[in-house]
Amino acid sequence: MEQYIIKGGKPLAGEVVIGGAKNAALGILAAATMTDETVTIDNLPDIRDINVMLQAIEGIGAHVEHSAPHEVRINSHQIHAMDVDNEFIRKIRASYYLLGALLGKYHHARVALPGGCNIGSRPIDQHIKGFKALGAKVSIGQDMICVEAEHLRGSHIYLDVVSVGATINIMLAACMAEGRTIIENVAKEPHVVDVANFLNSMGANIKGAGTDIIRITGVPKLHGSTYSIIPDQIEAGTFMFAAAATKGDILIKNVIPKHLESLTAKLIEIGAEVEEFDDAVRVVASKRLGRTTVKTLPYPGFPTDMQPQMTVLLALSRGTSTVTESIFENRFMYVDELFKMGASIKVEGNTAIIDGVEEITGATVFAPDLRAGAALVIAGLAAKGYTMVQQIHYVERGYETFEEKLQALGADIEKVDVDDAKAVRKFKMKVG
Ligand code: UD1
Repeated sequence: MEQYIIKGGKPLAGEVVIGGAKNAALGILAAATMTDETVTIDNLPDIRDINVMLQAIEGIGAHVEHSAPHEVRINSHQIHAMDVDNEFIRKIRASYYLLGALLGKYHHARVALPGGCNIGSRPIDQHIKGFKALGAKVSIGQDMICVEAEHLRGSHIYLDVVSVGATINIMLAACMAEGRTIIENVAKEPHVVDVANFLNSMGANIKGAGTDIIRITGVPKLHGSTYSIIPDQIEAGTFMFAAAATKGDILIKNVIPKHLESLTAKLIEIGAEVEEFDDAVRVVASKRLGRTTVKTLPYPGFPTDMQPQMTVLLALSRGTSTVTESIFENRFMYVDELFKMGASIKVEGNTAIIDGVEEITGATVFAPDLRAGAALVIAGLAAKGYTMVQQIHYVERGYETFEEKLQALGADIEKVDVDDAKAVRKFKMKVG
């Protein structure tokens, strides 16, 4: 098992290039199984969740060729099995996109119940409601979910909660259904739009992605395509907040600034400088930042996936701030870890009340999930002394070469084996 060892206290400075969006890529890889022709997907992040998804589609018969770094060619004409199950796919959330994709193309699928980060109960009732409305039968048993339909017919579906997963999944199933589907109260996240754009590039007829209503006219067949995935909004945001928390100056390249607006607005509000370029943002924080209130909301609101990073930043800012989590019910598990570092945070219900402290101190902390893990790394970079972040397999689900990108910004961080005391000593000798 590996951990990050970090010597904090250095402002991060320099340039970083952001990779493709994990959550768009997961939907797009599932969609790639819906045509017999070859699709080429570029700007694909090389991270654990994506590699699990690639293995899953290879496992059911798709041919996957890694044609260049961050590029795959997928041909699915030999897909022969509709059963998706292995110990890895059980750990990722987006395994459920294979239900929508295989149901849409082959009219049946059996997929392991989705896993993902442990951030509270994560029902899939809205996905099921959508599949049923399209004419599918859905059954759950032995940790597997099974969907099948003789015919898929377009339908009018109103989502009771705004769900990224349900929006993408129903869109996948409906784009090859007979007739017209209208989905109301949908998620508007950039990755929803990206999956819709990819499907349209394959010949689907999807309109309205990015608004509250998506209208789909089913087509009998999808064709090959070449597509480049949008940049990852959350990876970009993580580096923006790392710049602010370490009083640094980072130019974050290969981003779509519009996707970062809720983050940019909060950073400016608390006193950071944010400069926007066509495909880059620069974040500069030369002094200690101020207080604010934050509530996570569906896009274009403040993303829940940036909530832990925001809390770390406010833990070091002046005054009392509050962060309210309105999407997931159990997303403050990392607060106990920050407490070990000297942060002053009290959680009441779904709100964290944060009394900013001037300094936090390094400690051994455990990443409880992907984004909280990244937030603990930011805390370590801003803290005095050494921080060990353990359980980093969570972080590696969503950040490609995280420690290398941080090293290039001047951070003292290394990935070492948890039991390798010699490597820890060597790191400490090196950084002093
Ligand atoms: C996706 C993202 C995740 C992000 C989240 C919210 C992926 C792989 N993961 O997760 O990183 O944090 O969006 O932006 O893209 N809900 C229901 N019934 C359902 C579906 C969802 O009640 O059928 C609820 C959830 O419990 C949650 C809310 O809706 O409270 C939003 O969840 P959803 O948008 O579906 O999140 P995911 O797609 O799981």
